[in-house]
Amino acid sequence: MIGTRVEVEIVAVGYTRPPMPLPKTVIDQLLRAAAEVRKNAYAPYSGFQVGAAVLAGGRIHAGCNVENSSFPMGICAERNAVAMAVAAGARRIDAIAVVGGGARPAAPCGGCRQVISEFAPPQTPVVYATATGTPVATTIGALLPSAFGPEDLRAAAAAGSTGTAAAAAAPSPGRRRSAARARASRTSGR
Ligand code: THU
Repeated sequence: MIGTRVEVEIVAVGYTRPPMPLPKTVIDQLLRAAAEVRKNAYAPYSGFQVGAAVLAGGRIHAGCNVENSSFPMGICAERNAVAMAVAAGARRIDAIAVVGGGARPAAPCGGCRQVISEFAPPQTPVVYATATGTPVATTIGALLPSAFGPEDLRAAAAAGSTGTAAAAAAPSPGRRRSAARARASRTSGR
């Protein structure tokens, strides 16, 4: 069942580098945007509708969960909101709010924590709530401590041939192996 579509505006909040804690007005704007976009959630299989709003580049980028009859193809609200922000040119997330269905506030799933963390430093505020209850405020660092991130790939690339066999074999950003080297490592098993 496809519900009634709700137009979701990209709102400019004029706020790019929030300190911790975020002003309540900004949190409220994010929660409102997440609750609004949640009305567009396509969740006919789980019935669990989620909306997310990312603050990035002084704007709010909203996304909802989109399920699929091929179940694993469904996408969470947070990942869609992050994709909207990135598609708008943002590379740094300043805050994210999530509104989900259910009796209690639901924190972003593990996969979404990883995706948020790609663009958000550990102190980035994450606020999650039900449509009616009191929001829970935390940070991405608290939700995903010791995160794997781009710097791990950079460290592996910097280690180059002195790194582990796996790191040396993996094509890494900015470091292309020559065809000859790739052939040599295939035949030598290194
Ligand atoms: N879901 C989200 O959108 N975000 C989360 O962080 C957890 C789960 C969605 C995925 C699926 O459509 C539904 O909620 C039930 O898992």
